[in-house]
Amino acid sequence: MSETQRDTNPAVKSLGTGTDEYERRFAEQVGARYAFAFWKGRVALYAVLKALRVGPGDEIILPGYTCVMDVNPIMYLGARPVYVDIEPVTYNLDPALLEARITPATRLIIAQHTYGYPADMDAILAISRRHNVPVIEDCCLAFGSTINGRRVGTFGLAAYYSFQWNKPYTTGLGGMLTTSDPELAERIRALCEEELVTPGAKETAMLAAQLVVYRTLIYPRTTALATQAFRLLTRAGLVVGSSSTAEFRPEMAPDFFKGMSTVQARAGLRQLRRTELMMAHRRRIARLYDQLLAEKGWPVPAVPPNLDPVLVRYPVRVAEKAKALAEAAGHFIELGSWFECPLHPIETPLEAYGYASGSCPVAEQAAREVVNLPTHMRVSEKTARRTVEYLARFAPPPARA
Ligand SMILES: Cc1ncc(COP(=O)(O)O)c(C=O)c1O
Repeated sequence: MSETQRDTNPAVKSLGTGTDEYERRFAEQVGARYAFAFWKGRVALYAVLKALRVGPGDEIILPGYTCVMDVNPIMYLGARPVYVDIEPVTYNLDPALLEARITPATRLIIAQHTYGYPADMDAILAISRRHNVPVIEDCCLAFGSTINGRRVGTFGLAAYYSFQWNKPYTTGLGGMLTTSDPELAERIRALCEEELVTPGAKETAMLAAQLVVYRTLIYPRTTALATQAFRLLTRAGLVVGSSSTAEFRPEMAPDFFKGMSTVQARAGLRQLRRTELMMAHRRRIARLYDQLLAEKGWPVPAVPPNLDPVLVRYPVRVAEKAKALAEAAGHFIELGSWFECPLHPIETPLEAYGYASGSCPVAEQAAREVVNLPTHMRVSEKTARRTVEYLARFAPPPARA
């Protein structure tokens, strides 16, 4: 695509990967000028870090309550992750602790919108301006959430999204990077043109088959068993897993920087047409959980009134998390366990990722206590009621002073 064409239609990059239309429509929907599609969300983060020339000696701030796949791209580039503890209501980076972690080496702050709750962008951006450190928004768990009516993903220099199985909507795997900054967009485009790997035919075909299975077989009653089967098949190399074994080490695999396949882009375009419906459904189910849990005498989070979250999962604290999770499958209840530790999942060697145990106590407590309830399109009112009935067999953690 020529420069002129790109100027008249700035959301489109010019790689001709067959994903252009999805990128353009995605950018329009989320309110960004440019969008770039990738194989996974973590690849989108890698792209923006690399385009910003993050490298050895740089420090990247992020919450100590995240997915390790979010930390890998930082390590791949030789930079150092610096973890900030979270606040206990929205599970997002606590701005009161942020400033003390900024040093002359800080290059970037990653504001993750956890579970769909928007991070406190006013406070984070004020600190970022004071120190001249840009903010990137992790919207992987938050599609459509707003702060004072403004969508998350439009506050920082760039934002990235995920379309993996558990995310706001799914294309099997998938990621998107958005920005409205022309200079950054140009750097990302150049980087993709030089280095982006094309997905292989076999993995794309496997992903397409998995999407069909997902659409026909996965319902709240079957999710727990399906997840176990999926993990076994991933280990046997029979399905395209969300993460390979190699991704549990902070060294980058040669084909990591991979673009999006047309299979994913087509699925994404279909999903984009339904986002209003999906968001309304998630909001409705979350309100129902609020109501049902309150009826059972469970505490309901006091979320600031200027936030309108679209929750990808509804987090609840429970006294016996391990037991609640272990028994859920037997009752055909879909209960999620992320985040299981500050850098989910539990298999992560925390020291290798520079996380000192005890350094984010609020996050560690959340990891011990929080389970999450589904809000996706296959959760009916009846499912929500069954889920809360099941959960109410356990107790909430004792109230803290
Ligand atoms: C908060 C968060 N950010 C980023 C990612 C990475 O997304 P993806 O799995 O698409 O690479 C995840 C992972 O699942 C996540 O939970």
